[in-house]
Amino acid sequence: MHFLTIDDLTPEELASVLDDAAALKQAQADGIPHTALAGRTLAMLFEKPSTRTRVSFEVGMTQLGGHAVFLGKDDIQLGRGEPVADTACALGLYADAVMARVGSHDDLETLAANAGVPVVNGLSDAAHPAQTLADLLTLREVVGDSGTVAWIGDANNVGASFLVGAAMAGYDVQAATPAEYGFAAETVERASEYGSVDVGHDPEAATAGADAVYTDVWVSMGDEAEREKRLSAFEGFRVDDALLGDAAFMHCLPAHRGEEVTAGVIDGPNSVVWRQAENRLHAQKAVLVELVD
Ligand code: CP
Ligand code: NVA
Repeated sequence: MHFLTIDDLTPEELASVLDDAAALKQAQADGIPHTALAGRTLAMLFEKPSTRTRVSFEVGMTQLGGHAVFLGKDDIQLGRGEPVADTACALGLYADAVMARVGSHDDLETLAANAGVPVVNGLSDAAHPAQTLADLLTLREVVGDSGTVAWIGDANNVGASFLVGAAMAGYDVQAATPAEYGFAAETVERASEYGSVDVGHDPEAATAGADAVYTDVWVSMGDEAEREKRLSAFEGFRVDDALLGDAAFMHCLPAHRGEEVTAGVIDGPNSVVWRQAENRLHAQKAVLVELVD
């Protein structure tokens, strides 16, 4: 089994992974060893920079008794033109699973088709399901098992996985994006299979009654050439105190204070961004145990 999109899990499997993540979090807090992956190795392939994904997966493997190998694209033959499929074959001969951060989601599909071991998405242009696990664990902790969550801003990789994952987990989802940066119809259809999903272009309407408000950067990795165009298109979608109201504030990080969110909001009392970042560790451990154990 691979974990390339959040709905590679069924809603029941998703709930079970979140239960496991909560249990692993408690075990760590209680100092109880949890070495389900002793002797196992995770190959971690990165085509783009990362702080949280890289460190949470590597530390997670260590805490589970296993080991992680960091492979920057230009440190291996992939950077000199070895095909993705051949890279996958080689990694699968040594490692028990592969986690990859890639530019194109197609490369993840190629890795999954050729590795012969589970492949985990560490972010692609289309999806960031590992982040969504941490986001849903955070929502459980701060909102509870049901409620209304809002996505504001770019309908990007993090947003697409959150839209589907939040609906799978039983939350009502309200989203507002600029018209020219909206969610793909296919993403909205996938999310709507699981629950109430309302996408539009009005941030005030989308945040009305929300228990949590989530945003991400306006210029994702790879979108830098469109920076000026994007900054002007997204003006009006900044999360400030008035838009947030008394909701919890969520962001996958890294953030750009003054662009998608004010410093007062992200550094303010309703922000749960560091809880989300911590929960990456527990959620990543849970999905690794699910796929590799
Ligand atoms: N949220 C997230 O994936 O962060 P990194 O880019 O630091 O891994
Ligand atoms: N949407 C951002 C998320 C980074 C974790 C990007 O793709 O750059």
